[in-house]
Amino acid sequence: MIYFDHNATTPLDGRVLEAMLPYLKSCHGNPSSLHRPGRIARDAVETARAQVAALAGAAPSQVVFTSGGSEANNLAIKGLAWSLQPGRLRIGATEHPSVAEPARFLCSQGWECRTLPVDAQGMIEDFALAETAQNPPDIVAVMLANNETGVIQDVARIAAVARDNGAWLHCDAVQAAGKIPLSFAQTGAHLMSLSGHKIYGPKGTGALIVDPSVPLTPLIHGGEQEKGLRGGTENVAAIVGFGKAAELAAAELEEYGRRLRRLRDILERGIETLPGTMVFARAAERLPNTVQFAIAGYDGETLVMLLDRQGLAVSSGSACASGAREPSPVLLAMGVDPALAAGAVRISLGRDNTEAEAEQLLASLGRITGVEPGP
Ligand SMILES: Cc1ncc(COP(=O)(O)O)c(C=O)c1O
Repeated sequence: MIYFDHNATTPLDGRVLEAMLPYLKSCHGNPSSLHRPGRIARDAVETARAQVAALAGAAPSQVVFTSGGSEANNLAIKGLAWSLQPGRLRIGATEHPSVAEPARFLCSQGWECRTLPVDAQGMIEDFALAETAQNPPDIVAVMLANNETGVIQDVARIAAVARDNGAWLHCDAVQAAGKIPLSFAQTGAHLMSLSGHKIYGPKGTGALIVDPSVPLTPLIHGGEQEKGLRGGTENVAAIVGFGKAAELAAAELEEYGRRLRRLRDILERGIETLPGTMVFARAAERLPNTVQFAIAGYDGETLVMLLDRQGLAVSSGSACASGAREPSPVLLAMGVDPALAAGAVRISLGRDNTEAEAEQLLASLGRITGVEPGP
């Protein structure tokens, strides 16, 4: 099976597994314990914290480990809201459900929640920012890179508007990490989410980067871990793996980005020679590994299954929303016709994909549509 679904999850890097093994086999201490095994575990967690901080361009003291990107997003949105009086919340129209659903939940707690509309390329509209400045909200949440289209938002610009108007800004950087350079300080965000399994680390790890000025109420009470912001004994092996994955992602970022962009361009050029094809957000700045497209007359899930039969794993829309047969809300927010949106297929490349594999995918699309893709 050739795997083209790295925005859903990535395989565990062998070097990450090696780093984790001692903490699964013999180093079993609790990082909160004072004795030597406890101190060994504590040191491992703190090393990982520094590695994750380096990837995010943040200080180690700003890293709060969580069970993943979804928990980090929930901690950011609900943890901040529960520290404030109910007020106004604005989120980007193409946010991941782990941001959109907490926002919807807060509506039931007296918050006024609205989305910031995006244009046809998936970028937040200028008028939405102007409105944000005129009528300042308390919290703004905008993702750095979209999981479906790969569109990269100008978060620094949005953060400047938010900050100038006294709003807290949260940024979901789960898909951006390890694919484009990250700087918590330069984005101007107060909070930023990351996830381990999107960067060749283990599933079930993530982090929220927290500016010390942010008032945050924990989601999990009952433990003083993570400065009281995330109670519960740390999953040391997974945190160690996340740290190692972050270190590798930072070291290999440039090479990885260059290689994937070249493969993506080959795929995109080939796909566009098929009749009735639309590559979404084609004109926007996007992640180097992501291409989302539709072929008129083809249902996305059908295409995914036909490609699966030919040994190729791709996704129809976002994996987190799989099972739902509704057209992608991300594409609908961009004004894409629902019939075309229902045909959306996402290819998300990873570090092991090759040019030969990209050619194989194009050839399979050619067999399915009965048209040979051009060079
Ligand atoms: C943009 C984005 N945010 C958050 C998440 C959730 O991360 P996790 O799977 O670690 O909970 C995902 C997962 O696909 C994502 O793509």
